[in-house]
Amino acid sequence: MLKNTDPIIEVRGLSKRVKDATGELTILDDIHLSIMPGSSVAIVGASGSGKSTLLGLLAGLDSASSGSVRLLGHELTTLSEDERAGLRNGSVGFVFQSFQLMPHLTALENVMLPLELQSGMSARDASSRARELLEHVGLGKRTTHYPKLLSGGEQQRVALARAFVTHPAILFADEPTGSLDAATGHAVIDLMFKMNRANGATLVLVTHDVELARRCDTTVTIDAGRIV
Ligand SMILES: Nc1ncnc2c1ncn2[C@@H]1O[C@H](COP(=O)(O)OP(=O)(O)O)[C@@H](O)[C@H]1O
Ligand SMILES: [Mg+2]
Repeated sequence: MLKNTDPIIEVRGLSKRVKDATGELTILDDIHLSIMPGSSVAIVGASGSGKSTLLGLLAGLDSASSGSVRLLGHELTTLSEDERAGLRNGSVGFVFQSFQLMPHLTALENVMLPLELQSGMSARDASSRARELLEHVGLGKRTTHYPKLLSGGEQQRVALARAFVTHPAILFADEPTGSLDAATGHAVIDLMFKMNRANGATLVLVTHDVELARRCDTTVTIDAGRIV
């Protein structure tokens, strides 16, 4: 069992290498990182430095070439893809750079989806919880819109509502304010830190946004696949 004094994420000697036309490319090289529960971490660095790759490995969406990642007390490298998905479900929220909403589902149905994947919640409760989250992100009047009828910023907020609907212990977000105007960006940042304070959600955020990085407890800088 994970204790409150244990890191919620612990990374040791993590590397990611891929084969390419010229041989082998090292994307991440010997990363060490500890993240405590309830803290907020900004991952910053130039484009192509390996930030998105690192986030995917921390969340168990991708597998490492070497090293270890402990997430919520579980060693990800020993789990199967199904076991990693089971661990994520309900414990981890993810906001991708490309929002990855389901095009044939309304905003409300998209936000309900993670609740429906968990057992034990009635459709009515799931719907009212999803509606509440959409109201929090200022989309109470867009619940029946399909993603293609929403602006980029609105789609981003639906993705955030979907990520938070299960009260995850950890939110991973890849440039969550990258495609938003200043006002919407502020609202999204405020919402993430509200969840951080209210639910103790750990925030792990890849960002170029100076304001967002400044509000995080710690900043991790990546340069060419290494922490500097
Ligand atoms: N599956 C892959 N195959 C080959 N190269 C990859 C792959 N994934 C990422 N890369 C390369 O690794 C580097 C880091 O990518 P990424 O993690 O997306 O960087 P960042 O998010 O910091 O911009 C980039 O040069 C990218 O082209
Ligand atoms: Mg990236």
